[in-house]
Amino acid sequence: MSSNTPVERGHRWFAATYDLVTKPGEKKLGRLRARLLAGLQGDVAEIGAGTGANFEHYPSGVRVIAFEPDPHMLRRAQARLAALGREDIDVRLAAAESLPIDAASFDAVVSTLVLCTVHDVARTLEEIRRVLRPGGELRFIEHVRGDGALGRGQDIAQPAWGWFAAGCQMNRRTETALRDSGFEISEIDHKKMAPWMPAIVGRARTGEQGPKVRGDEEPAQGG
Ligand SMILES: C[S@@+](CC[C@H](N)C(=O)[O-])C[C@H]1O[C@@H](n2cnc3c(N)ncnc32)[C@H](O)[C@@H]1O
Repeated sequence: MSSNTPVERGHRWFAATYDLVTKPGEKKLGRLRARLLAGLQGDVAEIGAGTGANFEHYPSGVRVIAFEPDPHMLRRAQARLAALGREDIDVRLAAAESLPIDAASFDAVVSTLVLCTVHDVARTLEEIRRVLRPGGELRFIEHVRGDGALGRGQDIAQPAWGWFAAGCQMNRRTETALRDSGFEISEIDHKKMAPWMPAIVGRARTGEQGPKVRGDEEPAQGG
């Protein structure tokens, strides 16, 4: 019996259809990606790079290592990179919970539509904090759980959505998770990727304080 996790085995069909399915939304999302990545400098790690939709938006002069654990996605990211001819971006196989890079070695980490899917959000955020240099920044676009009836509807739809979208959890409270893990959010815009899919776009710094002690959580709201 194979001991591979689903993400190590990968999602062949999700990867094969990802660019096609996301194409209608990518025009608007592409503008958000460009704005998010503008001004980045130095060493940048991207987690869950997927098919490499962010690659064309990285400013020249940065050195990017883009990590992706799904081998089917990774192949597509490599193909996109070859087509773009960018030598300042390197693509590697790794999950965000365990990045094969030294502590305090990156100026920024980029996560777009990934914290919804990682196996362990708290562990991933801890790992991002580990690899960021002091003063380093996490830049994110993440869809999140809505408030009230929207959030309850997402909870009901989640099992079907998770199956369709390769384990994506549309009802994650990612903003709360960021704050609980000790990030200080310096910029945040609340947007909608679809009427039923609120999203947060912004920047966060590692902050002075460490993660909140478990059991210390406030009653959860949306986001
Ligand atoms: C919705 S796609 C987003 C892809 C890309 N970031 C984008 O903006 O288009 C989610 C990605 O997260 C990846 N992923 C799943 N589990 C992961 C993990 N534990 N660590 C890092 N990435 C993961 C998936 O393989 C997939 O490529």
